[in-house]
Amino acid sequence: MKKSIDRLKREKGAVILAHNYQVPEIQDIADFLGDSLELAKKSTELDCKIIIFCGVRFMAETAKILSPEKKVLIPEIDAGCPLADMAQPDEVLKLKEKHPNAWIVSYVNTSAEIKAITDVCCTSANAEKVVRNVPTRKIIFLPDRNLCYYVKKRVQEKEIVCWDGYCYAHRRFTAEEVKTARETYPSAEILVHPECNPEVQELADGIYSTSGMLRRAKGTKAETIVIGTEEGMIYRLKKEVPEKSFYSLGSAKTCYDMKKITVESLKNALERERYEITLPEKIMEKARHSLERMIEYI
Ligand code: 13P
Ligand code: SF4
Repeated sequence: MKKSIDRLKREKGAVILAHNYQVPEIQDIADFLGDSLELAKKSTELDCKIIIFCGVRFMAETAKILSPEKKVLIPEIDAGCPLADMAQPDEVLKLKEKHPNAWIVSYVNTSAEIKAITDVCCTSANAEKVVRNVPTRKIIFLPDRNLCYYVKKRVQEKEIVCWDGYCYAHRRFTAEEVKTARETYPSAEILVHPECNPEVQELADGIYSTSGMLRRAKGTKAETIVIGTEEGMIYRLKKEVPEKSFYSLGSAKTCYDMKKITVESLKNALERERYEITLPEKIMEKARHSLERMIEYI
């Protein structure tokens, strides 16, 4: 399977980008692995005809918006992000009517339509910096309420209205799990994603994007690290930092959409050049503006 994928990639001039939550086999095959910010940036630097995006739809859309000249494929058409679906354009515009002077800051975990009505996008790796740089005092932040909590606590000079969305996988980490992990691994560092609930964030030693966790894991003196994010990340950490021990915070938490892509669906996608991401030109143009502004702000 790997050989056929390599051959197809060469023949078609394709590059495989994969998110840190993908299944191990996909992580091993990918040309580039990363968090949502790294993958968005990488898509603009690649000299290739086709990008095969192993992740969820909003990530593939972001690659398409930033590199409209390339064909962007996602191997499973229904690999979505339920958090992204929690903000719909009509509801967001209604909230904007209530706060006409506020800028809309959207996490990249949103649809292209939402990005098109957004002033500036952010990812978990740069949300604090982006919000600090927004010219208005008032901000509507969407769709993740926990990332909003994280930003609000750190950027107190802004008045931030949080959207009430959440990630079903990260929401399952509990304060009880943090307390148990402390007892089980007293010398461990506990790192969590900002999509975790506030009480989990408060008890953790550090809050990082997925690739931020990797950098921290490499840099910290701790030899045991407990991870509060989707389970796929632990495979990458173990592979790249083999001298340290990694454990999931409580039971492993799975994002089922991230797991939809298999080596077989990746091969089929390459063979048949499916499923192509297409978006209306006008939406792409506006969405590009909010993504490019994010890159400008960081
Ligand atoms: P990262 O940007 O940290 O990779 O997170 C993306 C995501 O979907 C987290 O659930
Ligand atoms: Fe969306 Fe949560 Fe899956 Fe990330 S882990 S893609 S936020 S559902």
